[in-house]
Amino acid sequence: MAKATVEAPSNIAFVKYWGVEDIDRAIPRAPSLSMTLRRCASRTTVAFTPDADTDDTVLMADAEGTLHPADDGFAEPVVQHLNRLRTWADRPGSFRVATQNSFPAAAGLGSSASGFSALTLATLKALDTWPDAATRSALARQSGSGSAARSVLGGYVAWPHGDNHAAEPVAPHTHWDLRDVIAVVETDPKPVSSREGHQRAPSSPFYEKRLSHLPERMQTARASIAARDFDRLGPLIETEGVELHLITMSSQPPIYYWKPATLKVLEVVRAMRSDGLAAYATMDAGANVHVICPPEDEPQVAARLDSMHAVHMVIRDGVGPGPTTDVDPLF
Ligand code: PMV
Repeated sequence: MAKATVEAPSNIAFVKYWGVEDIDRAIPRAPSLSMTLRRCASRTTVAFTPDADTDDTVLMADAEGTLHPADDGFAEPVVQHLNRLRTWADRPGSFRVATQNSFPAAAGLGSSASGFSALTLATLKALDTWPDAATRSALARQSGSGSAARSVLGGYVAWPHGDNHAAEPVAPHTHWDLRDVIAVVETDPKPVSSREGHQRAPSSPFYEKRLSHLPERMQTARASIAARDFDRLGPLIETEGVELHLITMSSQPPIYYWKPATLKVLEVVRAMRSDGLAAYATMDAGANVHVICPPEDEPQVAARLDSMHAVHMVIRDGVGPGPTTDVDPLF
């Protein structure tokens, strides 16, 4: 039996992945770019018993580390991905898997990027194989969570459109310290999965127009990260965060991920800017708002979000180095 543990962080997209060419392989219609986080992470332990033909076991660890059987909704895509990796490595055998999220399960924050990145990397280690970064990223993507392709790397990460559909580094986390202050306004599961949203995207009359802007936005994002130019990057982050939702709301049938509280936070972020803070908002496929800012403005941004009635919880995160094996196993 071989065992490995990996902790992989979530990421927040500055240029959003929305729309697929091939849903089962998570091949995107367009490029995206993200910042890998530090605190919001999934830790996964995988044990592999070669040649055993018993079913795989999938467990969830609670905050205290106690293991419970995962429900079917969680376990099924995990087992599907284990099958994919077992076939890829051509290694018959059986897996035992346990996962723990560092952020509160009820925070309504997507954990699929961190979860599938950690699962992919821990499984590869347990199988005693460690392909190059592009292959690790492409394998994580095939979980069905495309954004997991970016979480296998740290710092600033691009997932270009084309070639092997793997993510690539843009800059390490040490290049530029940016923070992500997350205003949690919604803790219920999202009304429509991102898998479904990706497929509906082309039905928006504005989708082709959006695609035509993306090559230039990717260039601007890369250049402003290289130059540590937040005055240039910030507005792009917020444009992208809003435009994703213009596409979802104009898809057929439409998808409304925002809640009234989302708009309240967006208003407060605009007020922060009028008061001289460098803060720009972005949202993934959900109602929660990620406020990106430089470290010197983080305490004030967090305090103002925390004082809002509409905000249930504030999580202070920031750019991080990416997955690590320097963590205790879950079993
Ligand atoms: O990783 P998926 O397939 O759940 O898609 C996530 C898409 C967004 O989070 C909305 C944007 C992104 O690029 O992360």
